[in-house]
Amino acid sequence: MSNCVIAPSILSADFAKLGAEVDAVLAAGADWVHFDVMDNHYVPNLTIGPLVCAALRKHGITAPIDVHLMVEPVDRIVPDFAAAGASIISFHPEASRHVDRTIQLIRSHGCQAGLVLNPATPVELLDYTLESLDLVLVMSVNPGFGGQAFIESALRKIEAIRKRIDSSGKPIRLEVDGGVKADNIRRIAAAGADTFVAGSAIFQAPDYARAIAALRAEVALA
Ligand code: DX5
Ligand code: ZN
Repeated sequence: MSNCVIAPSILSADFAKLGAEVDAVLAAGADWVHFDVMDNHYVPNLTIGPLVCAALRKHGITAPIDVHLMVEPVDRIVPDFAAAGASIISFHPEASRHVDRTIQLIRSHGCQAGLVLNPATPVELLDYTLESLDLVLVMSVNPGFGGQAFIESALRKIEAIRKRIDSSGKPIRLEVDGGVKADNIRRIAAAGADTFVAGSAIFQAPDYARAIAALRAEVALA
């Protein structure tokens, strides 16, 4: 796959030196920065917000920042992330009262919009939303923590969404998040994903460049 995107999740980075960690994964060949926002309400964990996104931009990060909102409500925080330099903003439909309105809100602030499907969320959520989206994010773990095991039913969901995207004829990216490793990414790519979040698989590796190269090499074999 030539247009494969590798998006390291900074949830597994060393937050005490976050700017240097992001510089390092980008120098090691990463394409996007996956930025996990958790609120201790929609998910049982608490992470980082727009101030940290803005700090990464101020530090000099120019790569796309792929903001994954695990917050409820969603709309209040969208303009703040757009102003902080987010490139893509994805949200969970369960966390928004008006899913279409949230998609339009994200786009009206100049960002690309993504919808996130949890492991138990059906693909029918895309029936009236897909054509307004720039990205669909399939969760292959339940959101809230890094380092969990990949849930196999995500593969069937990715296959079904790949069909929908192809028949839409739109350049919508299909991203997968959770438990992505060198030993399963080939199957995930074969199912139809083109954008891969990896947290522990990259940040817990001793050599980021080797870890990213290993992921890309497996995708190329799909
Ligand atoms: C989980 C987050 C993921 C997480 C992935 O809620 O959305 O982005 O950091 O971490 P790994 O790759 O370790 O499963
Ligand atoms: Zn994520």
